Amino acid sequence: MKKWFAVIGDPIEHSKSPAMHNAWFEEMAIDATYIPVHVPSENLEAAVSGFKTLGASGWNVTIPHKTAIIPYLDELDQLAEKMGAVNTVVRTNEGKLKGYNTDGVGFVRSLEEAIGTSQKEKPVLLIGAGGAARGIAFAMHQQGYTNLTIANRTVANAQTIVDEMGTGRAISLAQAEETLADFSILVQMTSAGLATGNFSMPFSLDRLAKGAIVADIVYNPLMTPFLQAAEEKGATVVAGLGMFVHQGAIAFNYWLGEYPNTNSMIAQLKAQLGGQ
Ligand code: ATR
Repeated sequence: MKKWFAVIGDPIEHSKSPAMHNAWFEEMAIDATYIPVHVPSENLEAAVSGFKTLGASGWNVTIPHKTAIIPYLDELDQLAEKMGAVNTVVRTNEGKLKGYNTDGVGFVRSLEEAIGTSQKEKPVLLIGAGGAARGIAFAMHQQGYTNLTIANRTVANAQTIVDEMGTGRAISLAQAEETLADFSILVQMTSAGLATGNFSMPFSLDRLAKGAIVADIVYNPLMTPFLQAAEEKGATVVAGLGMFVHQGAIAFNYWLGEYPNTNSMIAQLKAQLGGQ
């Protein structure tokens, strides 16, 4: 029987997940479909129970439901439990709903595609301490990155993540700007200016170390002002698009046991978003 998958969120129409997963189904001759479903918060519980009854094989969860969905699931993967956020639900063979979070590991995969796996002991500066930042901090820690510093406008929020990880350091944005030369890898995870489309820089990159690697989790625009400034300083830049494609590919693998082609998907989406 044809399998079906979905992404739920509010809003949802901007999501690129349906096009991505449907293209993979077609490419891999998998008899399945993936649809966007607009679910306002007050309908979340009913939506989960409806999906269960109607036999969805799995679905993605986006803003604002990543944490709110947890009480309606039967099981949680360890990393999703630590993060307190779920972006992927799998219906198990026993009909149970299991929650995973593939955002952070998706980021690490995208980063390592660009820089390899040999830089896990390098000093990393994570900028931001919101929901997305939390996922990436936990995933980097779990994947063996040993030297993590989190800089945030509200230092207490960074300190909370450090305390929960049991490792790392929390600093202010001003301290980050001042000590920037000490870091080899930077990850921009704030939503500064995201809502208005008027991206602002969380701080100046004047003191960026030579040969630094700079990543951003925002993928539209492909090259954020932060990445542009880093590139001007000669940094290796890692755009957010790879994270988006890999989080989807890891979810796909949880659902179907196969890993789809991420390189051609990144190229296709890049073309759509106006990159080369
Ligand atoms: P998300 O789920 O996208 O991570 P979030 O949970 O609202 O969004 O987190 C937003 C992050 O961007 C936080 O780190 C926030 O800093 P605070 O913890 O101090 O609020 C950061 N942020 C948002 N606007 C910012 C701005 N103008 N300058 C610097 N940091 C900003």
